[in-house]
Amino acid sequence: GSDDDLSISDKETEQNLKIAADVIKNSDDVVAFPTETVYGLGGSALNDASVKSIYRAKNRPADNPLIVHISSISQFYRILLPKGYKIPSIYESIISKFWPGPLTILLPVGEDSPLSKFVTAEQPTFAVRMPKHPIARALIALSDTPIAAPSANASTRPSPTLASHVYHDLEGKIPYVLDGGACDVGVESTVVDGLVNPPMLLRPGGVSVEEIRNADTQWEDVILAKKTAGKTEAVKTPGMKYRHYSPTARVIVFINCEDGSKTVNEFLESKKIPENARIALLRSKYFEPASSISNKIEIERLLGSTGSEISRNLFKYLREVDEMGVDFILVEGVDESNEGLAIMNRLSKAALEVVNGSFK
Ligand code: TXA
Ligand code: MG
Repeated sequence: GSDDDLSISDKETEQNLKIAADVIKNSDDVVAFPTETVYGLGGSALNDASVKSIYRAKNRPADNPLIVHISSISQFYRILLPKGYKIPSIYESIISKFWPGPLTILLPVGEDSPLSKFVTAEQPTFAVRMPKHPIARALIALSDTPIAAPSANASTRPSPTLASHVYHDLEGKIPYVLDGGACDVGVESTVVDGLVNPPMLLRPGGVSVEEIRNADTQWEDVILAKKTAGKTEAVKTPGMKYRHYSPTARVIVFINCEDGSKTVNEFLESKKIPENARIALLRSKYFEPASSISNKIEIERLLGSTGSEISRNLFKYLREVDEMGVDFILVEGVDESNEGLAIMNRLSKAALEVVNGSFK
C-alpha cells in the first residue's frame, strides 16, 4: 500500500531495495542508505527495538533525537498524523519549495502518535523531512514505513557522504549498506523550528537561510540558534551539545586571512606544531597551492571554489586525509553567507582551533 510510484529501473537495485525494505518493515534491525545530504542509518520509526538498534550501532547518546523520513505527504498523513490534523501553515511555503529536499521541520508529537518514544528522546516535538534521493524515497515507500535515520557515521565522526565511509565506521555493526554513490549536497539538512515565534534555525544545512528568507514573505525573520551549548544546559536541539564531525587529526580552521600563506606559515612555525608533525591542507578559493605556502605541508586537497562544491567535498576530504594518518588538517575557512554558514558550522565543530587572521 505505498503512495509512491517507484521509478527505480535496474533489476539489481530493485532486488537490494526489496531486501532493505524487508529489514525496515519486518525486523528490529537497521539499513544504511543514501540521501541527497549524507548517508542515513535507518530503522522503523514505529518500532522501539529498531530505533534502539540505531543508537547502539552508532554509539549515539540516548538524549539526541532522530529525524523521521517520509516519502510523500499522503504517507505522512496516513501513518503519522492524527485524523483532522493539518501541518501548521507557517511551514506551507518552505515545504512546497524545499520538499523533497534537505529541509527538516519540527512538529508536535500528538498524544496517539505511533512514533517510538526513542525517536524523540522525550522531546515534545519530532523532526521530519522528505528526502529527494530516489533510493531513499523508494526505500521508505517500499517498506511503507516512516524511517528514523541519523547520519550513518559512528558518533562524533564526520558524516558519511560515500558508502565506503559508512563501511569504515560501522562494519560488523549493521547488516546492509545501500550504495548510491556520492551524496550530492554533502552536508546535512537544515533543521527549522516553526513552532516558536520567531521561527528558529536549529541547524544550518543544505537549504540556506537566504533561501528560507526568500521563500517566505510571511515570516518576519528566522533566528539562528546559538552554535554551542554546555553539557548540562537545556538546549533547543540536543545535537548542539555534542562533539561532532571530528577526524582523529587535529583540525585548524583559518578565517579572515588577508594573506593566507603568511598566516598559515606563522602557524606552522609556531610552538604548537611539533617538529615532525604531518600536515594536510584543504583549501578552496583564496589560498595558494601548498607548494607556495610551506614545504611542511605534505598533502593537499582542493575543496572547490563554490559553496556547493565545498559542501560536497568537505567530509570526504576530512576523512580522506585523516586516513592517511596526518597529525594536523589545516582548512581554509569560508564566508558565512549562503552555503558558507553550514560549512563553517561543521568546521567549527570539527576544529580544535580557529585561527583568525583578523582581516576586516
Ligand atoms: O540530512 C540529514 O538531516 C541527515 C540525513 C540522514 O537525513 N540526518 C541527520 O540526522 O543529520 P542527525 O541525527 O545526524 O541529526 C539530527 C539533528 C540533531 O542535531 C538533532 O538534535 C536534531 O536534528 N533534532 C532531531 N529531533 C529534534 C527535535 N525534536 N527537536 C530539536 N532537534 C531535533
Ligand atoms: Mg549526525
